[in-house]
Amino acid sequence: MPKIKKIVLAYSGGLDTSVILAWLKEKYKAEIITYTANLGQGKTLDSLEEKAKNTGASKVYIEDLRDEFSLKYILPALKAGAIYEGKYPLATALGRFLIAKNLVRVAEKEKAEAIAHGCSGKGNDQVRFEVTAKALNPEIIILAPLREWELTSREEEVRYAQKHNIPIQISEESPYSMDRNLWGISVECGHLEDPWREPLPEAYQITTSPEEAPNKPTYIEIEFQQGMPSKLDGKNYELASLIEKLNLIGGKNAVGRIDLVENRLIGIKSREVYEAPAAVILHYAHKELERLTLDKDTFHFKEIIAQRYSELVYNGLWYSPLRQALDGFVIQTQKFVSGQVKLKLYKGSCEVVARKSPYSLYERKLATYTEEDIFDQKASEGFMHIWGLPLRTVAKIRKRKEKK
Ligand code: ARG
Repeated sequence: MPKIKKIVLAYSGGLDTSVILAWLKEKYKAEIITYTANLGQGKTLDSLEEKAKNTGASKVYIEDLRDEFSLKYILPALKAGAIYEGKYPLATALGRFLIAKNLVRVAEKEKAEAIAHGCSGKGNDQVRFEVTAKALNPEIIILAPLREWELTSREEEVRYAQKHNIPIQISEESPYSMDRNLWGISVECGHLEDPWREPLPEAYQITTSPEEAPNKPTYIEIEFQQGMPSKLDGKNYELASLIEKLNLIGGKNAVGRIDLVENRLIGIKSREVYEAPAAVILHYAHKELERLTLDKDTFHFKEIIAQRYSELVYNGLWYSPLRQALDGFVIQTQKFVSGQVKLKLYKGSCEVVARKSPYSLYERKLATYTEEDIFDQKASEGFMHIWGLPLRTVAKIRKRKEKK
């Protein structure tokens, strides 16, 4: 094992990463540099530098990556329609790739031999961090204290923190494990570990319950340009601000609550609750525009791609050649995905009520049952004659055989 002199730690300032900071420093006698990204976790990062330094960090990085996160990670996943197991929009997963990329960048810049993270040995996040870091720098050493240290419970971590004068907050007594960014919140542990229990109201951070949501629906109109959401109710927004805005509007109308028993990569099933108002609204609106503007074969094939894409993201393979190749396909499909979608948000439901596009493939004259109809109904007869030929052949030949 090479001597480790400097470590870059992915740091949130919570109990786990605070204790990890002190523990790494003690164990490796190394210099610890913390790295924190603002991905829209909704917490102020103002006092974080002081907290990290007080816990023993030699240098502190805090970077606002909301734009990069929305444009380079959320947007491709949105265009691809990536929703894991039909429900989870992948907020936590997408965030890990960007954090890992920056851990490696800072480590290289600071000539640190190792990076460290606070993921447990049971989850998907360790995989996303480590596969990404090694894909970007195969030599980097990765330390995952939660997998190897002797602190096996929360209580022991708190005791360790107290013994080492690590500043921790009372709010860290929460029974839940939470991760939040622009694209959504993931919540697990506590009573949620029983899949037969309904989530308590306190498990939700940014959505009101349907019961308390307004009694009148909220209508919104979203405009897309080549698959990218660009306007809300006629006003231009940067993607990150548009997402923040939709989280508020959707959250107020109880839109975006997801309760899911999911299949983790490492083989266990876990129950997690997500809140992702903007992700739910945007995925729904985007797909609706594709229904209008993509031809049938492309639309159907894209659904297969979407599922595969979601698995790549969930399973930590963002920097895989396959994901990059699929992006090529997806971008090609988005050329004509421009237009507007109107949605109705009401007590937890999110319904598309209208859509239009300059590239709409909907032909009223073909669809109508009025006298404007231009569809040649007589031609259908010949079509069915040929289309049904294989079935008729089977029927005829088998009947002939049965008679013998
Ligand atoms: N299950 C989700 C995933 O694998 C979220 C993981 C993090 N969850 C949490 N509550 N800290 O992407």
